[in-house]
Formats: sequence, C-alpha cells, structure tokens
Amino acid sequence: MKLFLDTADYKKIAECSVTGLIDGVTINPSLLKVQNEPPLKIVQEIIKVLPEAEISLQVTEQDPHKVYEQAKHIVNVADNMLVKIPCHKLYMPVIAQLIQEGIPVNATLVFTLNQAFELAKLGVHYISLFVGRLYDNGVDGLKVATTIQQMLDTYDYDSELLIASVRNPEHIEGALALGCDAITIPVDIFNQLSMSSLSDAGLEQFKQDWLQGPHKQLLE
Ligand code: E4P
Repeated sequence: MKLFLDTADYKKIAECSVTGLIDGVTINPSLLKVQNEPPLKIVQEIIKVLPEAEISLQVTEQDPHKVYEQAKHIVNVADNMLVKIPCHKLYMPVIAQLIQEGIPVNATLVFTLNQAFELAKLGVHYISLFVGRLYDNGVDGLKVATTIQQMLDTYDYDSELLIASVRNPEHIEGALALGCDAITIPVDIFNQLSMSSLSDAGLEQFKQDWLQGPHKQLLE
C-alpha cells in the first residue's frame, strides 16, 4: 500500500522522508491555508526532498474551463504531479477530457460507491475516499471503502482506491485489511505508526539487562 503524507508543510515532510517510507504527498487548499509561502515554492521544496514521490495538488478554480486550464498548469510543474479535482457533476467532463489527454487525475471529495463507480469508469488514477469525514457524519467510512475496493476488483477497473481524511491509526489498519492501493495520512499520525508502549518497555528492559550484565563490549 502506498503511503502519502497529507500536508503542505515541506519541513515536516523532510523530517518524515528520512524514514524511506513516503511514496507521495497530497495537498488541498485547506492545507495550503496554514502555510505562509507561495504554493509553487512549497511544491518545489517537496520535490527537492522527495524527487521520485507522487505529488497530488488540488485545483483552486471553480469554473470548469478554468479548472481544466489550471489542471494542465499543475501537471506541467513536474513529471510526478497529479491533479486533484473534486468529484462533482460539473467537473466530470473536465476529468474525462484530462484523462483522454493522459493527465493523471486524483479525484477528491469522494463519499459514495456511485461516485467511485463513475470515476472508475472515467479511468481516474486515484479515487480519494474521505473516510474520516464519513465517520464525522455517522457513516461507516471503512465499510464504504470495502464496497468500493470490491467494485474495483470485480470489474477490474484500473483506478486505485486512496483512503483520505484519516483521523487515527485504526483507519490505516482498516485500509490495510481491505487491501486498498494507497492511503494519505497527517504527519502526527505518521509519527505514531512505529510506536508501541511494549516496544518502549522492551527497549528499557534490554538496556538495563545489558548494563547489569558482565560484558563491556558486544563484539570484542
Ligand atoms: C486528501 O486528499 C484530502 O484532501 C484530505 O485527506 C482531507 O482530510 P480532512 O477531512 O481531514 O480535511
């Protein structure tokens, strides 16, 4: 499963990148709102840190013609850019056109199986399902994710399910259990992934046993 960071904070992305675990970054207007630097500079800094990573940048225009133009602009920034376009009736023809032109689309703001079905038929690269926002609204987000993954598998669609709007580590375990292709997570959740209180306790125990034992060197 590909692991993306859901942030526009390139300094934090740089800190996380040393783990070798990050396959990409997803950016939306809300994530840019809390950064004080120009979006283009942010993207360029991310590319410096993660030159091979997939970077999904969301359009900010609303008019479909302008969305189309902006999408083309976004993918021209670098080879590994994907354009995030909201799932909405207004933008379906734009998505269809971009896909015809070979532009990789990450369809965002997806909440239902029917939306995912339409996007898979169009051939988007990623279907970004907002699992956390579904739970916020009383819907079992991972259950919707399961039905979408089954639909993609049953009909052999090329689109990949990307679990987005992740709120806790259990959402990641749920995504792994259903076998989806990718997930995007906030940095604070990423930083929790390699932690366990049992690992901490075990580490302390080994340290004490070594210090209390008879040896001074491990290999001499
Ligand atoms: C990523 O592609 C989405 O824009 C993001 O995960 C949304 O997360 P949120 O619901 O926490 O804003």
